[in-house]
Order: sequence, then structure tokens, then C-alpha cells
Amino acid sequence: MSSEAKVEIIEPRNFGGDVADELVSLIGEAVSERGICRIALSGGTTPGAVYRALGHPPRVNEVPWEKVVLFWGDERYVPHSDKQSNMNMVQETMLAGLTHGPRVHPIPTDLSDPEEAARKYDALLRAEFSGALPHFDLVLLGLGDDGHTASLFPHSPLLQEDGERLVAVALSPKDGVTRITLMPRALRAGRRILFLVSGQAKADMAHRVLNGIGSIDEFPALLFRDLGDTVTWYLDSGAARKIQELGVR
Ligand code: 6PG
Repeated sequence: MSSEAKVEIIEPRNFGGDVADELVSLIGEAVSERGICRIALSGGTTPGAVYRALGHPPRVNEVPWEKVVLFWGDERYVPHSDKQSNMNMVQETMLAGLTHGPRVHPIPTDLSDPEEAARKYDALLRAEFSGALPHFDLVLLGLGDDGHTASLFPHSPLLQEDGERLVAVALSPKDGVTRITLMPRALRAGRRILFLVSGQAKADMAHRVLNGIGSIDEFPALLFRDLGDTVTWYLDSGAARKIQELGVR
């Protein structure tokens, strides 16, 4: 394995389309190699343009959707109909445009106890991946300007946990909303890990994480730094500004 993550820098106006093109090609590769493409989706705002481009012509017709299985890397513990829900975002941007489906496994948010929902999703992943670690074909991740990724926030006890859980309940220090997140071991098991990052507000953090400045406890996105070129960073030119000035060591 090469020691460095790959970095693609994209003009903001092309971000959605260019990343969607990459996904069309990576989904096609996974399906031709393994007959299936299981994807852990990221939430937040950045991937919306990518999902929209994937869910509409021409790209929607270039994906073998019946061979695609969608999972979520994290979710806010709100109904799927809520605007804050990552399931809702994917539904509106991508799934609404599809005439024939991928299999879709959103994180459940309708149980009274979020811990129970996390256990249920954990069991679903184990069933889908036959008890092994979930080797998603593609893991999509975002980057917070504080260094969080999925719902793994700075100084979260989940970062130190050395157990078997694949899924856990997390609390967002930003808005106090309860969330459910895949654990580091589940996300790190992906065959390809793709960070989607846009906007100048992320420039400093993208530079830190790509250069390994700081600790995983401070900046959880560093969890993936030892995975070499399994990881690709798709940065728009705003998010890449500091890297373009100062480089990647
Ligand atoms: C979420 C995420 C989270 C996100 C980052 C970046 O559901 O919010 O999973 O980790 O990817 O916060 O979010 P933006 O794309 O909105 O900046």
C-alpha cells in the first residue's frame, strides 16, 4: 500500500458532477469485480450535489442500481421525514430520481431507545456482511471544520473504544442532537474511502488532516491517515486552498 492518500482538486461548479462521475466508475468496477456495490453514505450538506448528479440523467442511467446497496455512515436521531435527517437528504437528492431501486438500509430512528436502534443497525451490518467486518465497497465521509467525520467528534470516548461494536450512539457537541454513527472499525474496513470536502471554511482542517498535524482524539478524521491510497480526498478549490499554498508533506 502506498503511504499517501490521493487528492483530487475540483472547481466548485464541477464538484457534484465530477465526484458523481468518479462514483459511477467506482460502482461499475465494484459490480464487475464482485457483483455488488455496498456504499456507506455520508451526510451533511456537501454530498447533496453529488447525490443529485447521480440520481438524474445522464448518470442515473449509467449505474446498475439493482446491484447497489446503500447504508448510512451516520444519522441524526430524528424521523426520516425531518429536514435534518441524512436519509431525507439522500431521498430528496438521489432516490427520488430513481425508477428502479438500490436496496436501501437507512439507520433506524423510530425506536424509543437510540441504543436499541444502534444495536439493530449493528446486527443488520453483521447479517449483510456475514458476520465479518463490513467491507463496504465505498465509504463516503465528510469533514467538519473541527475535524469530525461521520458522527465521530473530537474527544469522543468512541474514539478510544477497543470493542466489537460496529455502531454506536453519539452526541453532537455542536447542536446537542443525538446521533448514531458507524464506529471507526466499521468505517476503516471499507475497500475505498472517499472524503468529500468543499468550501474555504474546511481549508485549514483539510490541510491539518492531510499533513497529519494533531491527534485522532483532537481531529477524528485522522483515523484514516494510515490507510494510504485506500483513501481519496475530493476537495473543491476552496477546501484545497491551504494545501495548494503549503502542500502536503
Ligand atoms: C453529518 C455528517 C458529518 C458531515 C460533516 C461535514 O451528517 O453531518 O455525517 O460528518 O459529513 O459535518 O458536513 P458538511 O458537508 O455539511 O460541511
